[in-house]
Amino acid sequence: MKRTLVICKPDAVERGLAGTILGRLERKGLRLLAGELRTIDAPTAARHYAEHEGKPFYGDLIDFITGGPSLLLVVEGPDDTWKIVRTLMGPTNPAEAPPGTIRGDFGTVLTENLVHGSDGPESAAREIEIFFPGLAG
Ligand code: RTP
Ligand code: MG
Repeated sequence: MKRTLVICKPDAVERGLAGTILGRLERKGLRLLAGELRTIDAPTAARHYAEHEGKPFYGDLIDFITGGPSLLLVVEGPDDTWKIVRTLMGPTNPAEAPPGTIRGDFGTVLTENLVHGSDGPESAAREIEIFFPGLAG
């Protein structure tokens, strides 16, 4: 799988960091295939985060991701591009993410961690299909 879904989350857009995040992906050598500024609606957020339904943080997660415009991106690179993006993002909790990663450089709290990236080839295909039908390749 050479494509993956990236979401510059509402905190990133609000803080004016969407361009910086996209720039890091581009400078790494990934190619931008699709991009759209969109406020994710609740049913779409529920589809996207279905794996977390029932967890204690689920309600806050859905409220957060639907709370303002996100920059939705599909990027393409070599095999397992999802893994390259996850490496650039850093660990889920920005407080523990190393400098040089997106979360490590720009965030401090778990809930506002700036960016989403698909966590495997099946997730990438599933998530691209949710936001950009027909682009999963
Ligand atoms: P994402 O899906 O947003 O790219 O983040 P991720 O793979 O690094 O982390 P994941 O485990 O999928 O969690 C999704 C989002 O839920 C929030 N979260 N809160 N309070 C908690 O224990 C908790 N755990 C996760 C985070 O904002 C995370 O990005
Ligand atoms: Mg995840």
